[in-house]
Amino acid sequence: MSEPRSIALIGMMGAGKSTLAPLVAAELKLDWIDIDAQIEARLGKSIVSIFAEDGKEHFRDLESEQLAQSLAKSPAVIATGGGCVLRTKNRDLLAGCRCAYLELPDHELIRRIGDGGNRPLLDANQLSDQISQLLAERTSIYRQLADCTVRIDKPEAPQDTCRRIVAALA
Ligand code: S3P
Repeated sequence: MSEPRSIALIGMMGAGKSTLAPLVAAELKLDWIDIDAQIEARLGKSIVSIFAEDGKEHFRDLESEQLAQSLAKSPAVIATGGGCVLRTKNRDLLAGCRCAYLELPDHELIRRIGDGGNRPLLDANQLSDQISQLLAERTSIYRQLADCTVRIDKPEAPQDTCRRIVAALA
């Protein structure tokens, strides 16, 4: 039998990765890890402050370190940040996981993100353009990494999305 592997939830900001990771983990009786929350706890400051004070590249370094550390532990459900897939090194690590891609169209991402508050890459006045651009840059990367894709076109209770993720992974 093959070794159990971690499950990584991948997808854009607003897809619900942080909300869904504990739900999926509870269903599968695994631990869960939220990469952004771990970085915030380690540095004692918010992702917004890290971007503002230390810069995006430093945040990306921390994200890579945290991903590697998380994957060195026992298999868990991992909520990645939306940009975690951008570095080759991270993609190589994620290729060793089972990646569940949460795919949402731009209108549903915009509805969920709202005013963009607390998201350093987004500005409420340009949200629509920024989301479209990020989707254009990232969708093919998410799809390439995905072992399964759960499409969320409209509002859905997290428990229902969780059930669909678990079914897609089965
Ligand atoms: C980012 C997504 C964020 C966070 C950071 C950068 C991105 O995580 O890691 O603001 O580049 O898409 P969420 O996807 O959990 O919002």
